[in-house]
Amino acid sequence: MLIRVPQLLTPQQVGHCRAVLEGSDWVDGKVTAGVQSARAKRNLQVPENAPAARELGEMILGALGVNETFVSAALPLRVFPPLFNRYDAGMEFGSHVDNAIRFAPGTNLRFRTDISATLFLTDPADYDGGELVIEDSFGEQAVKLAAGDMVLYPATSVHHVRPITRGSRWSCFFWLQSMVKDDAQRALLHGLDKSIGEARAALSDGHRSVVGLTGAYHNLIRMWSEV
Ligand code: NI
Repeated sequence: MLIRVPQLLTPQQVGHCRAVLEGSDWVDGKVTAGVQSARAKRNLQVPENAPAARELGEMILGALGVNETFVSAALPLRVFPPLFNRYDAGMEFGSHVDNAIRFAPGTNLRFRTDISATLFLTDPADYDGGELVIEDSFGEQAVKLAAGDMVLYPATSVHHVRPITRGSRWSCFFWLQSMVKDDAQRALLHGLDKSIGEARAALSDGHRSVVGLTGAYHNLIRMWSEV
């Protein structure tokens, strides 16, 4: 399931991110890559423990926590601290799958990466190339969103970032462990959640059908979740 989360950040928040990142250090992006992906990866990142990354990460986690589309689609259990990268002209990230298990920085806490997220921080008019291309069962999907918009996609998928031919593409990226490991189950729950919302609007919160469907939704989460 590929989910677009429009306007996760306001234009003011995007501007704040860019202003902070302007003054940040950038290092080779291979620092968070696995063996295979390190060979394919040519970009720059803000160091994981940089104060700038921590401050902006907190702001983004706050926006995620109150975003209904994100919560419904991802059913998050643990969200990895957001990281920041940039691709300047000539940079790219070849085909790879993200590491399955990661350590939360500075801890022994391991978590499974079920979902990958990219939050775009550059206006698409300001660069050429740089599409995030995700291979799924419907074929390849090229994603290039407005600044402040985010895409969620299964961390199980092969993906790449096309070379930048003009300008520079800045973004925030992170992984999360979901309460529901399986992408197909998450997609079913997200669809059911949306339909329940429509049924509540068309009928009433207390309508017998709404109560029954809401019960089925929660009981499916009870059946499938790991918390
Ligand atoms: Ni990746």
